[in-house]
Amino acid sequence: MTLKHLFSILNVTRKEIEELFSLALDIEEHPSNYANSCKSKILASLFFEPSTRTRLSFESAMHRLGGDVIGFATAKISSAAKGETIADTIRVINSYADIAVIRHYIEGIGEVVKKFATIPFISGGTGSQEHPTQALLDLYTINKEFGEIKGLTIGLMGDLKYGRTIPSLLYGLAKFNNIKIWLISPEELKIRRGVEIRLRELGVNYTIVEDYREAISELDVLYVTRIQKERFPDPLDYERLKGSYRITLESLNEARKHLIILHPLPRVDEIAPEVDDTKHARYFQQAKNGVWLRMALLYSLLKED
Ligand code: NCD
Repeated sequence: MTLKHLFSILNVTRKEIEELFSLALDIEEHPSNYANSCKSKILASLFFEPSTRTRLSFESAMHRLGGDVIGFATAKISSAAKGETIADTIRVINSYADIAVIRHYIEGIGEVVKKFATIPFISGGTGSQEHPTQALLDLYTINKEFGEIKGLTIGLMGDLKYGRTIPSLLYGLAKFNNIKIWLISPEELKIRRGVEIRLRELGVNYTIVEDYREAISELDVLYVTRIQKERFPDPLDYERLKGSYRITLESLNEARKHLIILHPLPRVDEIAPEVDDTKHARYFQQAKNGVWLRMALLYSLLKED
C-alpha cells in the first residue's frame, strides 16, 4: 500500500482495495501463516468515542498477527480529560507504538494526524465524516458474497445524514463498475449536501427515496443503519424520527431470493430479530469478516513501514 495513514477511503485505490481482499482471504484461509507476522509490533488503540466491534476487532486482529496492543476505550481515562490536545497525544503515541487506530469525534482529525504522526494512523471512525475500515469490510463482505463487486443494486437505508459508514461505503462503491444505489431514508435523514456533491463528482448512479418498498424488489444488497441518536443537536428530533423505519419478515416478501442484508451494527430496532434467522441476514458474518480485513490492513501498513 502506498498509504501512510487511512482517514478516507477516497485515498485508497481500487487496486489497493482488491489487494486487501486477496490478502484478507488468504489470512482467513491460512491464519497460522500470519500468526507471528507482526511479532514485537505494538498497536495503540485510541478510542475517544464508544465502540465494540471496531475496537475489539482491531485488537483481536493485532493479537492474531502476534503483535501487542496498548490503549484506552474511553476518553475519560485518557489525558484528554485533563485538557491534553490531540496533537500532543499523537506526538507521544509516536514513540509508544508502531501503528495506531483512533476513533474521534473531531472531523478533520486526519489533518492533525498528517502533521504530527510519524507512525501509521488508521481512522476507527471520525465524527459523522467517515469510517473507512468499516467500508472496507463491507466491500469485502459484498465481494465474498457475489464473487465480484459489479452490476449490483445496493440500497442504503436509515440515518444517511449522520451515519459515518454511509459516505465511506458510497465512496468505496464508486470505485466499482455498474453499481446502482438506492438511498432510502426519511427526508430529515437524507445524505448531507457535501456528500451528494461528491457522489455526483464521482459519477455514482443513485436514486433517493423515502420508502424502502419502492426499491426492495430490485436489491442485491440492503445496507441498514441505526439512527445516530448521539449526533442529534435537538433530542426532540430524534424522538420524532426514532422507529421511522424497520425491516421485518413482512418487508422481505417482495425481496429477491439472493438479497443479503448488511448492517455495521450496533442495531437498535431497525431490523426485527426474526430477520436474523432468514437466509438474507449477513450482519454477523460481516462483523466477523472485519477481523480478517483489519488483519490484512495492519499487516500491509506495518510491512510498508
Ligand atoms: C458504526 C460506527 O461506529 O459508526 N459502528 C461500527 O463501527 N461497526 C455504526 C454505528 O455506530 O451506528
